[in-house]
Amino acid sequence: MTAIRLGDLAPDFEAKTTHGDISFHEWLGDSWGILFSHPADYTPVCTTELGTVAKYRGEFDKRNVKVAALSVDGLKDHQQWIVDINETQNTTVNFPIIADDDRKVSSLYDMIHPNTDDKTTVRSVFVIGDDKKVKLIITYPASTGRNFDELLRVIDSLQLTAYNKVATPANWRNGDDCVILPSVSNEQVPSLFPKGHKEVKPYLRFTPQPKM
Ligand code: BEZ
Repeated sequence: MTAIRLGDLAPDFEAKTTHGDISFHEWLGDSWGILFSHPADYTPVCTTELGTVAKYRGEFDKRNVKVAALSVDGLKDHQQWIVDINETQNTTVNFPIIADDDRKVSSLYDMIHPNTDDKTTVRSVFVIGDDKKVKLIITYPASTGRNFDELLRVIDSLQLTAYNKVATPANWRNGDDCVILPSVSNEQVPSLFPKGHKEVKPYLRFTPQPKM
């Protein structure tokens, strides 16, 4: 198995999920996607994470992002655990959880790191663009719950780059000025960035955040 790198085509797969059988690329359709793994069902950090993702569903929808979770447990466990998540996190899990008890998908996406635990998945996140290419990979240890606000922030940045030819500077937040991509020539700037721009150095040009 070769490691997945940014820019690779996200590997396609078929899987059983709590929302029925899916063929991953077909399920993504024209959307962006997030595929994220968690170590195991009935674990505390994962319970809070999946509840949080359910509450953020509206934010993902606004950005045209579909979310799928995965763990190496089976469908029956997923379904029973969802009852607990809904109850304890005061929400309704509204996205598919992939049953990967044969570890087919977790192996394909290199989500098992044997030096931490050879049986369960680590907390991997893959953001996939509407071109089915991998745009972001983050790996967290099992003991650290993910920051889903950061995930939304990165998706906003990725979509600004994909659709508006800007990048985002350090600690950028939605609404802050953006950086004009180095590939944009000075001649192109006025028509591409009608809100104006500021040239700090020839290679460091800011513009107000374009409409997303
Ligand atoms: C959890 O998901 O809660 C968890 C898993 C492994 C280690 C610590 C926490």
